[in-house]
Amino acid sequence: MVPTITWQDDYVVMIDQRKLPFKESYVVCKTPAQVVSAISKMVIRGAPAIGVAAAMGLSLGASRIKSQNRSTFERQFLRICQQMARARPTASNLFWAIQSMQEVLKQHPKAGVAELKDLLRKKADELLAADQAINRAIGLNGQIVIPDGATVLTHCNAGALATAGYGTALGVVRAACEAGKKIQVLADETRPFLQGSRLTAWELQQDNIPVTLITDSMAGYLMSKGRVQLIVVGADRVAANGDVANKIGTYSLAVLAKENKVPFYVAAPLSTVDLSVPTGEEIPIEERDPKEVTHSLGKAIAPTGVAAWNPAFDVTPNRFIKGIITEKGIAREPYKKTLRAMKEENA
Ligand code: MRU
Repeated sequence: MVPTITWQDDYVVMIDQRKLPFKESYVVCKTPAQVVSAISKMVIRGAPAIGVAAAMGLSLGASRIKSQNRSTFERQFLRICQQMARARPTASNLFWAIQSMQEVLKQHPKAGVAELKDLLRKKADELLAADQAINRAIGLNGQIVIPDGATVLTHCNAGALATAGYGTALGVVRAACEAGKKIQVLADETRPFLQGSRLTAWELQQDNIPVTLITDSMAGYLMSKGRVQLIVVGADRVAANGDVANKIGTYSLAVLAKENKVPFYVAAPLSTVDLSVPTGEEIPIEERDPKEVTHSLGKAIAPTGVAAWNPAFDVTPNRFIKGIITEKGIAREPYKKTLRAMKEENA
């Protein structure tokens, strides 16, 4: 499997997810501004991958600061952090990664500039490696709920491409396959950006995991016909009460799942859980360019000038969620209590 993001000497290199599955090309970021732009333009996407990219971008930015004076360095580093924080608004991991990098400065009040640059690089490397290990743990914890022979439906791409490797929702699927279970995946195409058809279908095909593509609106019908045994999706931000922001269309899936008695799970690292946000109501939802709706793969698919709306995420209330699979186990209701306990254990 190709790495989503890696270092090449001092540069941050990412597979260009806008071009997949038609072309395997890479974007080389030589400045933190280029990393910010890569995140906003979806070269790299998916909450955990965005977090890792931000940390690497900040390390890259720190290494480019010329001043040897600690307070000047801190001021300039803070400015880069502020620019990074504007890359995208919804994924919790972006802000969590920025905060983790800022902590390095606080933890080493006496360190000189050269030492800080080394420490920041070390931290970014640590977050990159930890993300892969965390996804493996999520996979192991989650695969237990997948029955042998199940057809599992997923939405968007919460796979290796959305993380530093292995994936969250697709990590659960991968772990079930590694445990010897025969699993089929149904992938929602995920309009308008087509993460399901372009990315999920591609990465599962690469791993020889059986995958069937459907359009988003087919999911309810297939559930009603008993063709889906379980749903597992990723998350961009989980509120303290267990409400989950994820790719637009997730909410409709969860409601249909309840109606059809299909268990609906969310798989996410604890870095996606934001206890500072009490409920899903307070999660900022990104609105993207309406052109992503009126156009597909560069071609107009609507009359010129028609109005279009493009919220990139929606919020699924906790009552529709059977469990939130994390690296520390599966959080169940009451989420306010179970999620806080897991975060504290993880601190
Ligand atoms: O707009 P995207 O492609 O960044 O949205 C991605 C999702 O909604 C994923 O489901 C989520 O980030 C979890 S990825 C492990």
